[in-house]
Amino acid sequence: MYAKIIGGNRIEGEAVLQGSKNAVLPMIAASVLCRGEVRIEHCPAISDVRELLTVLSKTGAVCELKDGVLTIDASDAVPFSIDREQAKKTRGGVLFLGAFLGRFHEAGIAYPGGCVIGERPIDLHCAVLRKLHVVLTETSEGVYGKGRPVGERVELSYPSVGATENAVLAAVCAKGRTELLGAATEPEITELCRFLNKAGAVIHGIGTNYLVIDGVSELHGVTYRLSGDRIVAGTYMAAAAITGGEVVLRGAEDVCMDGILPVLQAAGTQIRREKDLLVVTGNDRVLAVPYIKTAPFPAFPTDMQSQILALLSMADGDSVVCETVFESRFAVVPELCKMGADILSEGQCAVVHGVRQLHGADVKAADLRGGAALLLAGLAAEGETKVYGYEYIARGYEDICGLLKRLGADIMRMEDS
Ligand code: UD1
Repeated sequence: MYAKIIGGNRIEGEAVLQGSKNAVLPMIAASVLCRGEVRIEHCPAISDVRELLTVLSKTGAVCELKDGVLTIDASDAVPFSIDREQAKKTRGGVLFLGAFLGRFHEAGIAYPGGCVIGERPIDLHCAVLRKLHVVLTETSEGVYGKGRPVGERVELSYPSVGATENAVLAAVCAKGRTELLGAATEPEITELCRFLNKAGAVIHGIGTNYLVIDGVSELHGVTYRLSGDRIVAGTYMAAAAITGGEVVLRGAEDVCMDGILPVLQAAGTQIRREKDLLVVTGNDRVLAVPYIKTAPFPAFPTDMQSQILALLSMADGDSVVCETVFESRFAVVPELCKMGADILSEGQCAVVHGVRQLHGADVKAADLRGGAALLLAGLAAEGETKVYGYEYIARGYEDICGLLKRLGADIMRMEDS
C-alpha cells in the first residue's frame, strides 16, 4: 500500500483526535491481569492494537474492538508463549512479559528483534524483572520467566518506557511492596497507572519517577477512557504548520503536549488551547529552530523528531536536530532529500538547511514516524509524491489519508498494483 499526494493544498478545518496508541498498548497487556470485563473507550483502530489483540486472544481472552470501544475479558485466560513470528510483528508484545508473570507466574516470549530505528534490546526489562525475584532464562530465541514477582526496591539505570511498564505490570499483582526508582514519566505511563488503580491496583506516586506499588492478588474489570494521542496531535499540528493552514483538534482536553508545543511555537506556529480544543495556525514561512534535542519526557519526544525534520526542511534558515533516544532514527533523511530537502545527518545530529520548496518524489517509509514525516513533506511539496510502506503508518495513525483529505489535502491511499 502507498499514499499518493498532490502537494500544495492548505490543511484547514476540524478533526477529532484519536486515542493514544502508546497508552492503550500496555493496557491491552494489563487486561490479562483483570478478572472481569475491561472496557477501553476512545481506542484507536490501528494495526498495532490489532496485533496485540491477536496475541492476547491466544490466551483465550475474548477481545472486541468496535466503534472505538475495546472490550477484553481475560477471566479464563491460560498461559501462552509468544513465538518469533508474532514477536517480530509487534514490539509491544514484550509488555506481556510482566503481565503474564503477574497473572500466570510464568511467561515466554521470543525476542522482538531490532528494527529500523535502533537495536531496541530488552536488557532493562529483564534486569528489573529479575530484581522482582522472577527467575528469567535467556536463550538465543527469547526469554522465559518463572515465579510470582515479589516486591523489592528497584532502581532503573535508564528511564525506559517499556521497562517501566513491564515493572509496573509485574508489580501490581506481586507479593508485597515494590518501590520503583528512576521510572520513566511519560504521560502514557501515568495513564497505565490510573487504569490499573481503577482496576484495583494500588500504585502511589503516579506521574513521578518514584512509584510505590502495593501488590494485590488480582485485578477486576474496569472502564477507562483513553486520552488523545499526543504524537498524532503533534503530527496534525505539523501538517497545519508545513502548509500554512489552520487545524482545530477536538477531543484534546487531556492531551499532554509538554515538550512538543515549544518546538512547534519556535517554528512559527501559533497554538491556542480552548476547553477540549487545540487550535493550530501555521505561519507563512516556517522558522528555523537553532537546536532541538530528543530525550525522555518532559523533553522533546523522539516520536516527533522525524515530523519536525520534515517541517524544518522548509524553514527560513538552518536548524540542528539531535536524537539521543534511538540510535538510528535518521532513516527518513535520504527520503526527504529525494524531495529536495537539504539535510546532513551524522551520528546523533542532523543539520537541516531550510529550502524554499520541496518537490514530489517516490519515497519509502521505513518506520511509523518516518512515514508520517514523508506524508507531511508530500503535503507541502510541489507535484506528486508517492509514499510507499504505508503499512508502517497504519500501525499508529487511524485513517490518516481520510482525515487529511477531509482537511483539504489531495491525498489517496492506493493498493499496490
Ligand atoms: C516507547 C514507545 C516509543 C517511544 C519510546 C521512547 C511504546 C509502545 N513505544 O518505546 O513510541 O519512541 O518509548 O519514548 O510506548 N533500551 C535498552 N534496553 C532496554 C529497553 C530500552 O537499551 O531494555 C533503550 C532503547 O534501545 C532506546 C531507549 O532505551 O534506545 C529508549 O527505549 P524505551 O524508552 O524502552 O522505548 P520503548 O518502550 O521501546
